[in-house]
Amino acid sequence: MAEKAGYVADFPSEIIREGKVQVLVPKLAAYGVIPSDYAPSKAPVFYNPVMEFNRDLTVLAFKAYHNMVNHEISICEPFTSQGIRGIRFAAEVEGVTRVLLSDINTSAYELAKHNIELNKLENKITLKHKDANCVLSCNASPKKRFDVVDIDPFGTPVPYLDSSFRALKNKGLLAATATDLAPLCGVHAKACVRKYGGKPLRTEYCHELAVRLLAGCMASVAAKHDIGIRILFSHSSDHYIRVYAQIAYGCQKADESIKSTGYILHCFNCLHRETAPIIFGKSDQCPECGSKMDHAGPLWIGSIGDPAFIDQITKENQSTAFKNSAKITKLLNLTKNEATESATYYVIDKLSGKLKLPAPSVQAFLAALQSSGYQAVPTHFNTRGIKTDAPTLTMHKLLREIATTKQPTALSATKV
Ligand SMILES: C[S@@+](CC[C@H](N)C(=O)[O-])C[C@H]1O[C@@H](n2cnc3c(N)ncnc32)[C@H](O)[C@@H]1O
Ligand SMILES: [Zn+2]
Repeated sequence: MAEKAGYVADFPSEIIREGKVQVLVPKLAAYGVIPSDYAPSKAPVFYNPVMEFNRDLTVLAFKAYHNMVNHEISICEPFTSQGIRGIRFAAEVEGVTRVLLSDINTSAYELAKHNIELNKLENKITLKHKDANCVLSCNASPKKRFDVVDIDPFGTPVPYLDSSFRALKNKGLLAATATDLAPLCGVHAKACVRKYGGKPLRTEYCHELAVRLLAGCMASVAAKHDIGIRILFSHSSDHYIRVYAQIAYGCQKADESIKSTGYILHCFNCLHRETAPIIFGKSDQCPECGSKMDHAGPLWIGSIGDPAFIDQITKENQSTAFKNSAKITKLLNLTKNEATESATYYVIDKLSGKLKLPAPSVQAFLAALQSSGYQAVPTHFNTRGIKTDAPTLTMHKLLREIATTKQPTALSATKV
């Protein structure tokens, strides 16, 4: 039990500190009684300490966005739970003048209200006890719209995309988290088609496909409102994916972002993959081995990050001391390098396994590809993953050489 400023939590709770704020949250030790209990959702108000990384990164990304647009910003976070995320935006992101928070759960609303008062942010933050779509739609008129909308629901953000786009100003930023990785990674493929309008594929790079399915769905929902999107930043971490999309009003902008959607064709025999804007009329025969290919999509086939924006987040990270700073640096370095690389990545063990060969180290395989004249970078999606423009059969050849000679002969696989 905790009491402060007239508020009494009728459940076990404790004060925690995160970033520059302190908030009262459910005491999770009281809820994860048996190992299979997922304490954050057993508590009367949702709180997940693991998401501090996500919140730290979001604070930095919104600081970078503020620098980029160079004007005061307003933020709506309509799934606020205990309020920690929105309270941090108001307290830590310079240039934030108005924050609107909401949660449909009564206990969450009451706790968030208490936490706003605890941090003395009543002047900056307005709190509602409403459904997210309702809050967003009520703020869709031109004078009420926000610069930033952050949607952090349970599971999929798709039911809230329409109202989020309507509630954004031109050049506004939509940040969305999706935790429904079973549909997005192809375990429940039908659910993914229903929700995201795209077919997933159970491949070793399904987490990248998940980001691309969400981004593709965003592009198609935005296009209905004559809005285009560009992906400033995205990542897959822990149990979720997150996409930051900047919008631009105009039917031409919408047409342009629709052009960044398409399909990824995948050969389960040799692991070749390729992107295609349309698959209608296209041969499904693998150009490398002749097998029949499967496909994922429609999804986003454009860039999934903007190196200049990621540089800005890095700059903010360097001047901020968070518990997660080192982990953030690592993620930003990887996402910056892979942002403009072609879609999908190869997991070395999967390739080597196909060929029944021992798997080399990431460094050895990267070096072999690079010295053969190919682009090759590691990826944040998988510690054993590589993004490269090398043809799949060339990679087979290099892996065989590494296995037999321990020293691949670069010349024999040189790009033509
Ligand atoms: C994943 S939690 C949000 C966590 C929070 N943003 C944070 O960083 O700790 C999702 C929250 O959305 C609320 N919620 C679920 N459906 C909602 C809806 N339709 N409208 C508004 N809030 C909703 C839940 O009560 C829950 O507090
Ligand atoms: Zn093939």
